[in-house]
Amino acid sequence: MSSPPVIAIDGPSGSGKGTVCRRVAAELGFHLLDSGALYRLTGLAGRHAGLAPGDEAGHARLARGMQVEFGADERGDERIWLNGEVVTDAIRTEQAGNLASQVASLGAVRQALVARQRDFATLPGLVADGRDMGTQIFPTAALKIFLTASAEERARRRYNQLKDKGLSVSLADLSREIAERDHRDASRALAPLVAAADAVELDSTGLTPDEVVARVLTLARERLIG
Ligand code: DC
Repeated sequence: MSSPPVIAIDGPSGSGKGTVCRRVAAELGFHLLDSGALYRLTGLAGRHAGLAPGDEAGHARLARGMQVEFGADERGDERIWLNGEVVTDAIRTEQAGNLASQVASLGAVRQALVARQRDFATLPGLVADGRDMGTQIFPTAALKIFLTASAEERARRRYNQLKDKGLSVSLADLSREIAERDHRDASRALAPLVAAADAVELDSTGLTPDEVVARVLTLARERLIG
């Protein structure tokens, strides 16, 4: 039997990947892998266990052993469990994002999460959201997209997202944190954020989510069907 089709969508924070991946997966009836959530969950599990952010072996052990469930609440909104506890909001804070970025630079943690991520590729297919989906986790993906947007636009989108959730943040602080996180994600030695050689680069600056989703679906239909 041939392996399930994978659409790998990589790019920096705030490029709109989350929304685009969720909608493309829903349109195609595919599964969704939010790989960033796995790094966020590992960071949170480490904090719960009292580990130092640089404890590589400790975080790798948690990354392998933590019990994770992705689901939805009664309204159909995302709900995520870590070892039986609902952590949907806890993993979305900027602090959890920064912790995730730190544990994501640890080789043993990345290695521990490889099999867990590949297990998501089941029929009828998968949309995989991350930084290294097309380069490391699914190198033979049928379609690879590298989604970008200008740093200012990404900071503004994040600001609006957090404000909608009732969280108070400053745009200047966010811009600085996004720049720092970009730098760490792109310059780390292991699986840095780079486009796969065979990825289609899509700049979403000035595009609506509808427009980006439509472009990805057109490419997906060409690659997966045509
Ligand atoms: O997409 P996100 O903001 O939820 O990701 C959180 C952090 O995890 C981000 O700083 C980079 C890291 N990450 C990674 O290194 N590799 C992935 N495949 C996904 C996320």
